[in-house]
Amino acid sequence: MGSHATVAGDPPVYDFDIVRKFSIMTIVWGIFGMGVGVLIASQLVWPGLNDLLQPYTSFGRLRPLHTNAVIFAFGGCALFATSYYVVQRTCQTTLFGGWLVPFTFWGWQAVIVLAAITLPQGMTSAKEYAELEWPIDILLALVWISYAIVFFGTIVKRRTSHIYVANWFYGGFIVTVAVLHIVNSAAIPVTLTKSYSAYAGAADAMVQWWYGHNAVGFFLTAGFLGMMYYFVPKQAGRPVYSYQLSIVHFWALISLYIWAGSHHLHYSALPDWTQSLGMVMSLILLAPSWGGMINGIMTLSGAWHKLRTDPTLRFLVVALSFYGMSTFEGPMMAIKNVNALSHNTDWTVGHVHSGALGWVAMISIGALYHMLPKLFNREEMYSVKLINLHFWLATVGTVLYVVAMWINGIGQGLMWRAFNPDGSLTYSFIETVVFSKGGYVMRAIGGAFFLTGMLIMAYNTYRTVNAAKKAAESVNQPVQAPAV
Ligand code: HEM
Ligand code: HEM
Repeated sequence: MGSHATVAGDPPVYDFDIVRKFSIMTIVWGIFGMGVGVLIASQLVWPGLNDLLQPYTSFGRLRPLHTNAVIFAFGGCALFATSYYVVQRTCQTTLFGGWLVPFTFWGWQAVIVLAAITLPQGMTSAKEYAELEWPIDILLALVWISYAIVFFGTIVKRRTSHIYVANWFYGGFIVTVAVLHIVNSAAIPVTLTKSYSAYAGAADAMVQWWYGHNAVGFFLTAGFLGMMYYFVPKQAGRPVYSYQLSIVHFWALISLYIWAGSHHLHYSALPDWTQSLGMVMSLILLAPSWGGMINGIMTLSGAWHKLRTDPTLRFLVVALSFYGMSTFEGPMMAIKNVNALSHNTDWTVGHVHSGALGWVAMISIGALYHMLPKLFNREEMYSVKLINLHFWLATVGTVLYVVAMWINGIGQGLMWRAFNPDGSLTYSFIETVVFSKGGYVMRAIGGAFFLTGMLIMAYNTYRTVNAAKKAAESVNQPVQAPAV
């Protein structure tokens, strides 16, 4: 990282206010989204919880609220916060865009609040991860285009000679998500809260899962790899293992992900060759995924001892391990024969959360623990012990969640396909539900562990900000971090 040469001139002034806002909201929405996650996980153990406030609290309505809140509110705010931080620091300049910068914050929060209001009321386009109705989709597109202007405008006015690799990943994520969102959300409005997709039948399904898988590849992966390329070297105090590998990683990842979406539609009405193409591309995708993971983990060579004392670094490294694990599991599940067993079972949900909790949430949490003290002008967080406690709660919580879903998923898949010699099914569906209950309890406990860790993070952050305020008051200075 030492290679970005600064041009001579005044020291850069950074806009950290926007980064602070997005960072705090990452924690707030993380608690909200995971809170809903624990609630729906509990509903699958105690169905009576569906009736808390019918019809708004039924599983079918809260599930999309959970996915939207964790992916777009929690994950999205983490991506905004870190990309705005990283692009300024690595380009040695402040954000471009004037009022567009606060617009991306308030606009994004408005999208989230509108989602939280409409989804429990059952207003949905019924496309997974793209459930929001058309007026909210338009607002989302406007916010996203503003984000692109701010981000790329900042790159253009950079005061460094080259563009650090983290920005390539953030940039790829921003451009692709704009294209995905605009194409997949094309719809014919009927009323303010109801629309029909512009596509029909199998084509609609294909567009939806082209979107869906690339939402995974670009929203949940490329953006967070941007985070990885900045925060892992920074926290480890080492340059990135191989700059060459990072460039190969970038181009291979973005050129392969885009072809793999049809693995979500195995054994469907999609032409068979399309399914096979999705499978093959998914298998090839293992290479860039692991290339990236190795690049991140090897950055620690010479700094492994730091893991003993630095729980923030541990978050980042465990995130990389889960990234490696879920990107091994994904290509395996894309093999048609394996998918014949895994599809529709809890195995998919386990895979999702080894990526979502183990990778996405862990890397975000690590990045936040790195940034927060710097944003509030403190040496370190209020309590490193509490970071450590958070680390263990998050790790144990994720493992409980994922293992429970593996057991459930493989059990369900095997039970559904078991036949008696006369050709009748060995198990009734309800027997597979009874079998799954233990796993659901274990998942709810794992989720509660993870959520508790987030609450501890909120407390630790509150104390850190408070200490910053007190220190600032005592010398009569603003709380703001120094501009340089
Ligand atoms: C406390 C932590 C969490 C808990 C307890 C939790 C729980 C759940 C539950 C119960 C479901 C529904 C599964 C089903 O329909 O059978 C679900 C789905 C989902 N969650 Fe979470 N979740 C948590 C965190 C997260 C995070 C942080 C993310 C993303 C960053 C995430 C992304 C998703 C996605 C994408 C789905 C849909 C999965 C699919 O369609 O296969 N979750 N979650
Ligand atoms: C090389 C990388 C990956 C490949 C090839 C891959 C492949 C797959 C496959 C085959 C499925 C099951 C589709 C089905 O049976 O319906 C799936 C589901 C899913 N994966 Fe991955 N995966 C990868 C990495 C990841 C990562 C890192 C994450 C999260 C951060 C993730 C999130 C998801 C989600 C959210 C779903 C559920 C979609 C749904 O049905 O709602 N995947 N993936």
